[in-house]
Amino acid sequence: MGAAKLLLTDHLASGAKNVPTSYIRPISDRPNLSVVHTSDVSIPLIDLQGLHGPNHSDVIKQIAHACQFHEAVVNKMLRIAREFFRQPEEERLKSYSDDPSRTTRLSTSFNVKTEQFSSWRDFLRLHCYPLHHYINEWPSNPPSFREDVGEYCTNMRGLVLRLLEAISESLGLKPDHIAKSLGKHGQHMALNYYPPCPQPQLTYGLPAHTDPNLITVLLQDDVPGLQVLSNGNWVAINPIPNTFTVNIGDQIQVLSNDRYKSVLHRAVVNSKEERISVPTFYCPSPEAMIEPAMDLVRKHHPPVYRSFAYSEYYHKFWDTGLATQSCLDIFKLGLHS
Ligand code: OGA
Ligand code: NI
Repeated sequence: MGAAKLLLTDHLASGAKNVPTSYIRPISDRPNLSVVHTSDVSIPLIDLQGLHGPNHSDVIKQIAHACQFHEAVVNKMLRIAREFFRQPEEERLKSYSDDPSRTTRLSTSFNVKTEQFSSWRDFLRLHCYPLHHYINEWPSNPPSFREDVGEYCTNMRGLVLRLLEAISESLGLKPDHIAKSLGKHGQHMALNYYPPCPQPQLTYGLPAHTDPNLITVLLQDDVPGLQVLSNGNWVAINPIPNTFTVNIGDQIQVLSNDRYKSVLHRAVVNSKEERISVPTFYCPSPEAMIEPAMDLVRKHHPPVYRSFAYSEYYHKFWDTGLATQSCLDIFKLGLHS
């Protein structure tokens, strides 16, 4: 496909009024923007249901502390993301690659090599833990990019580790159970850039998917776009200043043996404003073996998933493409015999 390398920003710079045909989905697969609900009290900001155990109040305090993420760090992150995408094409393209295994790369849509429909998004994806392994391959422009983004990553890791303790405890596991199940740990992030779209009803910023990693902590600017599926309805999770949205990913579903479900979500676009989001994807390291926690596997709850190396799961995710059917099904026990 000759157009694969065309980034949205450049396409739009040429004054396009229509989305190119590759973005146009069949009528049955469009966002149906008029039937989306707005966020209400049934969508908690942090869902740590069942948080219990001997250190309950301690964990609560830890979370409160962790959530006082420095406002300046967050603002710098959003500013540098905006500045990055406003740079001239030749500067941005220094990081371009359509190979999902690259640890630092700019690309567009989701996976231009395998997908049937394009998505209205450009993104810069970065591996960020251990930071010193990767920071030198990150973009060197804008000049404060590495410093600002590096500071954000380090803070974010602290927050995630506390969340993982709380989630472990809420499952009745030892606080360090999840952290100890992730091998050497991994942390990736994306700087998502959704330009205004002339026909937002025809396409997505990102179609419905669950995140393949453990847990995702999403920072969004002040433009709505994120939606989650809740009781069969798409619900808009509109941005609230100085908050993060925490999404449970597929690996928490596996470790919890289906007690916690990864959340189906999508991003829609709009015709008026650009939108920036910055998800942190916390994950196992590639060689880590993932399986349901032994303590959650009992007579009445046999293991739902076979054990697998995280790298196997991750490759399946990028190959399968974003589909409503999450790739968890591929790893389920007892479905295929
Ligand atoms: C993602 C994602 C949502 C958003 O990058 O996996 O779901 O609001 N992003 O950008
Ligand atoms: Ni996602």
